[in-house]
Amino acid sequence: MIAKGVEQPALAVERLDGGYADSAVLHGVTLDVRPAEIFAILGKNGMGKTTLLKTMMGLLRARSGRVEVLGADVSRWAPYRITRLGVSYVPQEKSIFQDLSVEENLRLALRELSEFTDRLEAVAQWFPILKSRHRQRAGTLSGGEQKMLLIGRALLTRPRLVLVDEISEGLQPAVITRLREVLTEERRARGLTIVLVEQNVDFALALADRYAVLKVGTVVETGRTADAGARERIERHLVL
Ligand SMILES: Nc1ncnc2c1ncn2[C@@H]1O[C@H](COP(=O)(O)OP(=O)(O)O)[C@@H](O)[C@H]1O
Ligand SMILES: [Mg+2]
Repeated sequence: MIAKGVEQPALAVERLDGGYADSAVLHGVTLDVRPAEIFAILGKNGMGKTTLLKTMMGLLRARSGRVEVLGADVSRWAPYRITRLGVSYVPQEKSIFQDLSVEENLRLALRELSEFTDRLEAVAQWFPILKSRHRQRAGTLSGGEQKMLLIGRALLTRPRLVLVDEISEGLQPAVITRLREVLTEERRARGLTIVLVEQNVDFALALADRYAVLKVGTVVETGRTADAGARERIERHLVL
């Protein structure tokens, strides 16, 4: 499928159909994301964005089509195997351990604990507030701090690909700016590939290289964020 001499995509989705037991949600979704690219998936509520990420991660079974991650066909893989390729997933629901401390939540992300002190230092540089609150029970953090913890935990493992579901939702502008800086720097420094599901067009345009718009489980628009008219082409699918 992939031509010789052409760079292998970090993520390739081909004619993917998927959904839940008695409802088909995704219909022939095709997209590809290049290494070190930041790619935004936009669309209104209920269009299938979360279902798409979960199907890519193996949390939902594809009905047909295929998902390739970092060169491997992962279409029938369990989530933990996909994770081991160097993939981190930040779900839309705040999946932190409420009763554990900030530091304990971070420690659980790592398999190799000898690296933990170094990695904790990296998280402290991204989000100093998490360092000063490392003993605090995670469930008592503010909404914005919990999002920082989620991103910190996802990046702690130094993934090659990270899938992020609506991280900017409900966040203050200063926190959104910080998230943008952290993600941009990780891409620059390590070649991290980032797939963002977003409804915040400003955030997506500021961060992403390319985008796809999902409507009723189908990609209806793709392009480069730098192209003239990109915002208008995206926004016309996000209005009523
Ligand atoms: N667990 C589920 N079981 C059945 N249908 C679901 C489930 N989760 C989501 N859906 C349905 O799938 C469709 C897409 O949802 P979702 O992927 O969450 O959209 P988005 O993330 O774009 O808001 C919606 O119609 C939603 O009601
Ligand atoms: Mg969603």
